[in-house]
Amino acid sequence: VKSVTLRTLRAKYEKGEPISMATAYDYPSALHVDQALIDIVLVGDSASMVVHGHDTTLPITLEQMLVHCQAAARGAQRAFLVGDLPFGSYELASTEAVRSAVRMLKEGGMDAVKLEGGSPARVEAARAIVEAGVAVMGHVGLTPQSVSVLGGFRPQAQVASEAMRVLRQAQALQDAGCFSLVLECVPGPIAAAVTKALRIPTIGIGAGPATSGQVLVYHDLLGMMSHPHHAKVTPKFCKRYAEVGATIQLALAQYREEVSARTFPGLRYSPYTIKAHEVEALE
Ligand code: KIV
Ligand code: NA
Repeated sequence: VKSVTLRTLRAKYEKGEPISMATAYDYPSALHVDQALIDIVLVGDSASMVVHGHDTTLPITLEQMLVHCQAAARGAQRAFLVGDLPFGSYELASTEAVRSAVRMLKEGGMDAVKLEGGSPARVEAARAIVEAGVAVMGHVGLTPQSVSVLGGFRPQAQVASEAMRVLRQAQALQDAGCFSLVLECVPGPIAAAVTKALRIPTIGIGAGPATSGQVLVYHDLLGMMSHPHHAKVTPKFCKRYAEVGATIQLALAQYREEVSARTFPGLRYSPYTIKAHEVEALE
């Protein structure tokens, strides 16, 4: 199967075909997403939460992201690979942003990077990265790396002034050369208006049906976190297409029971044999 490139994504967008994106963080998850013919694998900094168990995306480092990117890149042969620039790797200056973005391609094996926010400084960073030769996906609306100043994860752009700000940020990121934009947790009509105003594809998450594409987090869409204390991390907008967590839990419990009862491995899973006289020779 032919690889997905910026040209492929552009062609889909121009034909009005929805673009699919899912996150992946390692070899097996990227292989799964790739085999499902999903257009874009996003190595998201959501790894901080769903892989490393943090409460926010803030703690994950560029070095850690690079390891996730490298593993995911080995699994995704076909999909377009986007890697999240983590918190603390691009805010200081555009030179820092370019340096981090270049590492995501050279060391991480990504095709493009994503960064959060649409303030003038972020737009300048996006422009500098694009000028350095790295494709950039923007991300506006709820930007989880800003949780400290936002005061929590909550829907954005629910008043007209905020919605106008999201639209202006989206346009500024487009003008800076972003090839696409994530819209996270904004009302459907706002996402629709932004999508209509732009000439680059929007990828929505909790942003209604009118965006040019959709993205979900791997662990969330698979129902990986079935434990009661993890219920808080499966967001309202996320459809669970499976209950993989329950399947894993059941399998592990069964394994533990069979070990306890000595029914595993049994003869069926004890393939290595030795002739009877050799055993006798041991005694
Ligand atoms: O890190 C992530 O998973 C993301 C998506 C939710 C867009 O940024
Ligand atoms: Na992210």
